[in-house]
Amino acid sequence: MAAQIIDGKAIAAKARKALLPRVEALKAKGIAPNLTVILVGDDPASAVYVRNKERAAKELGFLGGVLRLPAETGQEELLTLIKHLNDDEQVHGILVQLPLPGHILESAVLAAISPQKDVDGFHAVNAGRLMAGRPLFAPCTPKGVMRLLAESGIETRGKNAVVVGRSNIVGKPMAMLLLQADCTVTIAHSKTQNLAALCAGADLLVAAIGRPKFITTEMVKEGAVVIDVGINRVGEKKLVGDVDFDGASKKASFITPVPGGVGAMTIAMLMENTVEAAERALAPC
Ligand code: GUN
Repeated sequence: MAAQIIDGKAIAAKARKALLPRVEALKAKGIAPNLTVILVGDDPASAVYVRNKERAAKELGFLGGVLRLPAETGQEELLTLIKHLNDDEQVHGILVQLPLPGHILESAVLAAISPQKDVDGFHAVNAGRLMAGRPLFAPCTPKGVMRLLAESGIETRGKNAVVVGRSNIVGKPMAMLLLQADCTVTIAHSKTQNLAALCAGADLLVAAIGRPKFITTEMVKEGAVVIDVGINRVGEKKLVGDVDFDGASKKASFITPVPGGVGAMTIAMLMENTVEAAERALAPC
């Protein structure tokens, strides 16, 4: 079977466009969504991601912007800045780009962001709410995957889903959202035994490992839905996913490409979470 390729770029564009009337409605009430992004240091990949977030926010007419801080910024200085943004009523969403330089404790920084402004959904309160089935902000990448499935008309109920990767950013919240969508979910990782056989039994396979072409053709069941979260740089310019696309796309029913699949959704969902934060600030729930 030749897989249907899920056009993440088009679905992301649709999701961003759907935000425009919501932004206009907020502006009519005197509120412009404000997303403030903090970038510490000069990690080149982070610089690209942050620029893309900045551009998407500008296109939607958000206020805020990027605070670019030197790599030597101290943890206390960063925590003080976050407190200031927490207290600023004009700011609806705060995002600290990860990874942070080694001398800054990531958990302390994420814990400092007000859960009401945590548009990444990384605060422990938001992770807990997601697990309890009452998410305030679902993390953007897994939320984007769920939107791709919904927009592609893919039924999740009762499906065997295997998520390969157990990060707090993707793997764990992805599993929670799929469980909420009535999948039977397995989280696999680098220590999982018989990984290939486990993946080959999946109706829905989500690859979030961060290793190029880790998921081979043999690991894909005939007719499976394959979602590739990986963005791996090989050589100077080329990006490849965690899935061997050429082989997997001959067996899957649906597959996401890299680039042009999940990546664009992450930013669209960040914009959506920011609009939600601004709407809640207007009418607290
Ligand atoms: N680094 C890689 N992905 C992300 C993300 O979704 N949010 C933040 N804050 N940092 C990241």
